Amino acid sequence: MGIKAWISVVSFFCGVVNGFTPEQLISAPRRTAAIPNSVGDLAIYYVSSYSFETHKNTHTWNLLDLGTGDTSVLFPEPEVSEVVWIADNAVLYINGTNADIAGGVELWVSDITDSSIRYKAASLAAPLANLKAVSTPSGVSYAVSGLAYPNGTAYNAEILEEPLSSARIYDSLFVRHWDTYITPQRYAIFAGSLSISNGVYSSSGGLKNLFSGIEGLESPVQPFGGTSDFDISPDGQKVTFLSKDPVLNPANNTASYIYLVPHSGLEKPVAINLPSESYSPEGASASPVFSPSGKTLAYLQQDENGYESDKNKIYVYDLENQSISVLSEDWDRSLESLSWSKDGKILLLIAGEYGRGKLWALPATAKNAEKPKAITGTENGSVGLAVPLSDDELLLSTSSFVSSAGFSRLQLSSGEVTTLLDPNAIDAELKGISKSSVGDFWYQGAASKVHGWIIKPEGFDEEKKYPIAFLIHGGPQDSWADAWNTRWSPKVFAEQGYVSIAINPTGSTGYGKEFEDAIQNDWGGAPYVDLVKGFEYILETYPFLDADRAVALGASYGGYMVNWIQGHDFGRRFKALVTHDGVFSTLNQITSEELYFPQHDFNGTLWDDRANFERWDPAAHIVNWSTPQLVIHNDLDYRLPFPEGLAVFNALQVRGVPSRFMNFPDENHLVLNPENSLVWHKEVIGWINKWIADI
Ligand SMILES: *[C@@H]1O[C@H](CO)[C@@H](O)[C@H](O)[C@H]1NC(C)=O
Ligand SMILES: *[C@@H]1O[C@H](CO)[C@@H](O)[C@H](O)[C@H]1NC(C)=O
Ligand SMILES: *[C@@H]1O[C@H](CO)[C@@H](O)[C@H](O)[C@H]1NC(C)=O
Ligand SMILES: *[C@@H]1O[C@H](CO)[C@@H](O)[C@H](O)[C@H]1NC(C)=O
Ligand SMILES: *[C@@H]1O[C@H](CO)[C@@H](O)[C@H](O)[C@H]1NC(C)=O
Ligand SMILES: *[C@@H]1O[C@H](CO)[C@@H](O)[C@H](O)[C@H]1NC(C)=O
Ligand SMILES: *[C@@H]1O[C@H](CO)[C@@H](O)[C@H](O)[C@H]1NC(C)=O
Repeated sequence: MGIKAWISVVSFFCGVVNGFTPEQLISAPRRTAAIPNSVGDLAIYYVSSYSFETHKNTHTWNLLDLGTGDTSVLFPEPEVSEVVWIADNAVLYINGTNADIAGGVELWVSDITDSSIRYKAASLAAPLANLKAVSTPSGVSYAVSGLAYPNGTAYNAEILEEPLSSARIYDSLFVRHWDTYITPQRYAIFAGSLSISNGVYSSSGGLKNLFSGIEGLESPVQPFGGTSDFDISPDGQKVTFLSKDPVLNPANNTASYIYLVPHSGLEKPVAINLPSESYSPEGASASPVFSPSGKTLAYLQQDENGYESDKNKIYVYDLENQSISVLSEDWDRSLESLSWSKDGKILLLIAGEYGRGKLWALPATAKNAEKPKAITGTENGSVGLAVPLSDDELLLSTSSFVSSAGFSRLQLSSGEVTTLLDPNAIDAELKGISKSSVGDFWYQGAASKVHGWIIKPEGFDEEKKYPIAFLIHGGPQDSWADAWNTRWSPKVFAEQGYVSIAINPTGSTGYGKEFEDAIQNDWGGAPYVDLVKGFEYILETYPFLDADRAVALGASYGGYMVNWIQGHDFGRRFKALVTHDGVFSTLNQITSEELYFPQHDFNGTLWDDRANFERWDPAAHIVNWSTPQLVIHNDLDYRLPFPEGLAVFNALQVRGVPSRFMNFPDENHLVLNPENSLVWHKEVIGWINKWIADI
C-alpha cells in the first residue's frame, strides 16, 4: 500500500468512527443466562470481561435479585467454574482445583446469603464438568461429565507420563473432530450422591460411570454438547442422556438416541427412541428433559440420518407405558430447544423465525395438529433461555444485534415485561448503541421472498452516502439473527462507518424447511442469485448506499460464497473481499471430519456423484479472480482444513491479485482468544477501509 492510501485510511478512520469499537465489542461483559432458585427470588449468572489494559480476563459468579434487579458478586474466585442450586439459599459448585489430586476438582457447598459459609463436600479425581444436581429427601443426586478410559475409569491427563512417541494410528473413519484428534477416551456421564445430616452435605459413595457396560456411548455429544444433553429426574432416581448411535460411525452418521438409566448405575442404559416399525425418525435427537412430575420426558428429534440441519420435531415419552407422542409435527419453524413450565402443562420452545430466536408455548398434551403460540414478538431480539419462576412468570435471557445478554421477567397472562438487567444501560461499552439503527427488508429472490437486515451507524445521516459491508453467513443452514455475536457483529462494521447488509438467502434457517432444504446440491445456485438480487434491491431502495464502495465478507459457507463470488460477475461489484475459513475447492470436502455434511449437501460422494461437487467448485473459476481479497485460515480448523485458505491466497498471489493472508496457529474454525480477535478485527476492517478509500 502506498503512502497516499495510508493517508486516506487514516482520514477515513478519523472522519466516521463512532463509539462502538472492536475493543468494546470484545471487552464488554459477557453474561450467561440467569438461572433462578425454586422460589424465584434470586438467580445466578456468570459474567466475564477482558481488559486490553491488563490483558487479562476477569470472571465472577453473580446473584441477581429478581425483585429489584440488584446484582451482587457471589464468587469472585476464579477457581469457581460452575454453580447450581441445591436449595433456595444454598448452591453446589465446582471448585476447579483439588487439594489432593492434580488435575482433579472438588464439589463445594455454599450458603447463598453468606458465601464465606462454605465447605468441601466431595473430591473428584478427574477434570469433571457440566454439573447438574437435584435435591432429594436424603441429600443431592448429581451428575457430571468427562473423558473416560474404555474401561470406564475417569481420565485425568495431568497425572499421566508424557508418551515417548507422538504417533497417532487409526483404522477407521473419524481421525479428528473440530479441533481435536480422536483418542481412545470418550465422554461419559458420572453419577454421584451427597447425603445430608444436620444440615451438612457430604459425599456418599464414589462416582459411577453410567455408561459402563455399553461400548460406543458418548455424552455430551462433541464438540458443542453440554448440560442440555442430559437430565436428572426430579426424584433423583433416573438419568436421561443423549448419545450418538454406539455402532454407526460418527463421521458419516448423525443418528443419536435418548437413553434412560438409573442414577444408581445398577442397570445398563436403554435407548427409548430406536427406529422401529412404529417409530420412523432416524436422525439426531436433542434436549432430553424430564417433566416436573418425572412421569414423562420431552425431547427433539430429526427424521433423517445424515442431515444435521433437518427439522427438529417435538416428542413426549411416557415412562410408565413407554409410549411416544409427536406434537405439532407440521409446525415449520427452526426449533432449537425445549423446557417445561412449572406445572408441567406447557412446553416452552425456542425456535428461529425470520431472523429472531422466538419463545413459543405449546400444551404438553396438545393434539398433533395444534401449533405453538409465540410468546415474544418480532421487536424483541432473540431469547437465549426462558426459565419459569411461577406458572405465570418466566425469567428471560435475551440479546439483540445491539445488546449482549440481558435479563427480564415476563408475565404470561398480561404480557407485561419487567427489565431486570439491561446491558446497554450498565455496560459502558454498549452505551452508545441502540435499536433504532437496526431495520429489515424483504425482496423477491431466486424463487421466493428473501429477508435481510440493514444495520446503520449511530448518528446516521440519510443525506450522506455510506459504503456497504455485505455480510454472508456460514452454515449454510443458519441465519443472521437479531442476537448478540462477538465474532461477526454487523453493528461493529456499521460503527466503523458502513451500512451493514446481512441477507438470509436460500438455505437459511427460520423461513421454513423448504427454503432451508433448497440449498442441497445448489450451493452456488439459488443462494448466489438471492444475494445478487438482494444487492440490486438495496441499491434501488436505499439512496444513501454507495454502490462504488461495497465490500463482501463471509466465514465458513460465507467464505465459500465469497470465493464463489470472486470467480463470477458479482465479484466485480465489490472493491474488496474477505474470506474467513472458506472453501477453496468443493472437491476437497472429503478432508473434513463430519463427512455426512458434504455427503448431504452435495447429495452423494465425490466418486459416485462427482459432477455435484464440480458444479459448485470456486476453484473452477480462478481465471476470473481479480478483486482484492483478504484470506484468513486457522491451523486448528479441522472442519475445513488450513490448506483451503492457503490455496486461495496462493492462487490470488500467482495471478497478481492484491491479497493478504492471516493465520492463527492456535485457533480453530472460530477466533476465540480476545487478543487474536482484536487483531482479526483490525486486519479485516483495515483491509476493507483501504480498498474503499483507494478509489
Ligand atoms: C477451592 O479448593 C481449594 C483446595 O481445596 C481451596 O483452598 C479453596 O479455598 C477453594 N476455593 C473455593 C472458592 O471454594
Ligand atoms: C482403566 O484403564 C486405565 C488406563 O489403562 C488404568 O489406568 C486404570 O487403572 C483402569 N481402571 C480399572 C478399574 O481397571
Ligand atoms: C460410513 O462409513 C462406513 C465405514 O466406516 C461405511 O461402511 C458406510 O457405508 C458409510 N455410510 C455412509 C452413509 O456413508
Ligand atoms: C400411556 O399413558 C398415557 C397417560 O399417561 C396415555 O395418554 C397414553 O394413551 C398411554 N399409551 C398407551 C400406548 O397405553
Ligand atoms: C418487546 O418489545 C416491546 C417494544 O420495545 C416491549 O414493549 C415489550 O415489553 C417487549 N417484550 C418482551 C417479551 O421483551
Ligand atoms: C439427490 O440424489 C437423489 C438420488 O440420486 C435424487 O433422487 C435427488 O433428486 C437428488 N437431490 C438433489 C437436491 O439433487
Ligand atoms: C470468466 O468470466 C467471463 C466473463 O464474465 C465468462 O465469460 C467466463 O465464462 C468466466 N470463466 C469462468 C471459468 O468462470
